[in-house]
Amino acid sequence: MKHDSASKPTVLYPGTFDPLTLGHLDVIERASRLFGIVIVAIGKNSGKDPFFSDEERKLIIEEVCADMPNVRVEIFGGLAVEFAETVQASALVRGLRTEADFMYEMQMAMMNRSLDQHLESVFVPTRQDLSHISSSLVKDIVKLGGDVSPFVPPLVSKKLSEKLIID
Ligand code: COA
Repeated sequence: MKHDSASKPTVLYPGTFDPLTLGHLDVIERASRLFGIVIVAIGKNSGKDPFFSDEERKLIIEEVCADMPNVRVEIFGGLAVEFAETVQASALVRGLRTEADFMYEMQMAMMNRSLDQHLESVFVPTRQDLSHISSSLVKDIVKLGGDVSPFVPPLVSKKLSEKLIID
């Protein structure tokens, strides 16, 4: 499909991405077909203590998404709504897997909308075959010696194994 990024909106896909999973990648690929520019924004969830540094996550996502010219990766601190304004994104994209995600995401979308009334949230329903994947479960499996290759891109599998050897 031809890309006409000039007439399509820029969107922000914020998340922790610790690590990027095939579920996240599916959302990025679909958003990159719908929108002009997709900025994958690595943010801070105050309840999470990441396994990979911000910079490591950025390099991984950039490499995995290298074949999508309208996808950029950034690291941000502070509020997602403020970063969206900085990069002139008109919407936040989030993936939806389950009913539990829906409750959490609706609350976050409503809070973000209270903070910035011009910013929309767009939900992309995950592919059914990827709906059981989460970054935390991937990390649990890898720490216990399991095979995570069905759940993450090959580069992430490799980086997870390397990280375990180093740590
Ligand atoms: N397929 C598979 N897994 C998916 C998925 C999909 N389509 N979509 C989400 N997930 C998983 C992730 O792997 C992750 O799993 P984990 O909880 O085991 O780590 C989980 O669902 C959601 O994580 P993620 O998408 O990384 O989002 P998050 O909830 O950790 O991140 C931020 C939230 C960073 C976007 C949010 O905290 C934020 O905006 N922070 C900035 C500060 C701010 O503005 N706060 C106010 C918010 S109202």
